[in-house]
Amino acid sequence: MPHHQLIVVGGGLSGLRAAVEARAAGIDVAILSQVHPGRSHSGAAQGGINAALGNNPDGHDDTPEKHAFDTVKGSDYLADQDAAIQMTKDAPGVIFEMDHWGCPFSRYDDGRIAQRPFGGAGFPRTCYGADKTGHYLLHTLVERAYERQIKMYIEVFVTSLIVDEGRCRGVVAYDMIRGGFEAFTADAVVMATGGAGRIYGNSTNAIISTGGGAAMAYHAGVPMEDMEFIQFHPTGLLTTHILMSEACRGEGGYLVNGEGERFMARYAPKAMELAPRDITARSITTEINEGRGIGGADYVHLDLRHLGAERILERLPGIRDIAIHFEGVDPIEEPIPIKPVQHYTMGGIDCDVDGRTRMPGFYAAGECACVSVHGANRLGGNSLLETIVFGRRAGMAVIADLEGAPAGGGDASAAGHTAVAAIEARTAELAARGADGADPYAIRAEMISTTRDYFGVFREDAVMRTGLEVLRRLKERCGEIGLRHNGGVFNLDLVRTLELEGMVDLALCVAEGALARTESRGSHSRTDFPARDDEKWLVHTLAHHTPEGPRLEHAPVNLGTFEPQERKY
Ligand code: FUM
Repeated sequence: MPHHQLIVVGGGLSGLRAAVEARAAGIDVAILSQVHPGRSHSGAAQGGINAALGNNPDGHDDTPEKHAFDTVKGSDYLADQDAAIQMTKDAPGVIFEMDHWGCPFSRYDDGRIAQRPFGGAGFPRTCYGADKTGHYLLHTLVERAYERQIKMYIEVFVTSLIVDEGRCRGVVAYDMIRGGFEAFTADAVVMATGGAGRIYGNSTNAIISTGGGAAMAYHAGVPMEDMEFIQFHPTGLLTTHILMSEACRGEGGYLVNGEGERFMARYAPKAMELAPRDITARSITTEINEGRGIGGADYVHLDLRHLGAERILERLPGIRDIAIHFEGVDPIEEPIPIKPVQHYTMGGIDCDVDGRTRMPGFYAAGECACVSVHGANRLGGNSLLETIVFGRRAGMAVIADLEGAPAGGGDASAAGHTAVAAIEARTAELAARGADGADPYAIRAEMISTTRDYFGVFREDAVMRTGLEVLRRLKERCGEIGLRHNGGVFNLDLVRTLELEGMVDLALCVAEGALARTESRGSHSRTDFPARDDEKWLVHTLAHHTPEGPRLEHAPVNLGTFEPQERKY
């Protein structure tokens, strides 16, 4: 049974950064990833990463404190202020480190890292590499990980945690290449599996963004925090929902309705297209709902034509390629049809600024975690930042916690064998039902349309109750599903079937949290409770797993630096 001091689950930015940090301190680290790390969803991030460098001529007065303020205001005051302050303080250092490690950031003529404006930010503070920033950062860290000879188990699908006497002692994984389940024991586990976007039917996320790591933690007793806060990116490509980066608006792009108006003037007269995402997504949805979509249909235009071919080709070449290949539209010549789509999971595994969770030996970082720095609405450019800042910090926490701990941390192989036996028994049960069991694909299809249609940009009690009933029924049917394909290797039917129940459980956390929160805050916008209610709801939601569904409790927000105010842009 393989044993490593540290197992990192997930090979995206936060997992790689945690692994690189721990390895540099001599820790024996292994990364387990469903895909090659270079294919992780972090690589899909386009527009940039925030840090108060003050390089842009309009941003000379920027500071980490101002970045923290924008982050907290953007979060509709639900972010923990100490966490936001920590992230923005660490930001310049991690950017310079990535730069020194070879990340090809775009530059000004004098050689300094270029910075573009992004939504909800008082200064142009988003560092970027054209419109492929996530890809560049990811490959910089993949190279670092190889250079540090970090062991990688690639194309292994982690199914569960090994928990022994309340401590996380490793994970169980399905080895897609060789077939079969295997236990990997460890002294510490960092969960870094990304978001749960694919619980929605209209997501920018990769098909691997199913919330697997969060679901495993939830099932093992670690609560989910603030899951009702789902980010809808204002500009998803109409047909495929592929991200059309906020950088399009940062570079000066317009949002235009069916009447030819730059309608953001009605909703955010100062910030216009660079209002935060929650406000922009609501504004577009309102235009569509009131019949001012293009030709009355359910989309508006993102118009880049006035930027000119030269700027589009230099700053937004990937956007142009995607628009041409997936929508048949060349943004140099025509406006791009877009609408708001699910993009980011603000909530996740409850953890502190060092990634520590309530379970000893178990840490979380990146989108699967909730530190919480994004609160009710994340600012664009803060997610790439979060991955690197908190990946690094989780690595540092593991180093500190393992110092002086006995090598090997005691034998966890018995617990590993028990965990493998449990997943093998579950798989045998699914296989025995076979095609006579409930169809996991039908359940998945109904779940993703339910989240999309009942827990979208605007929410309302009666609608959400209907959606919740559907999700509860789907959860029951998860107990009857059958496995359609019994192959040993690359059995993606097994992967899709095993991950389903966790996805439904996370969808239930979204639904229950949203129904309980009788206010509007950030991305959670209720037509029946349109105002923010700080007296009652300036609190985090914690969802605890029970067989009957999530049990909710509420916990205080860390305030103290920025007084909550009405958000105006
Ligand atoms: O719009 C974008 O490029 C996405 C950035 C982000 O989600 O931070």
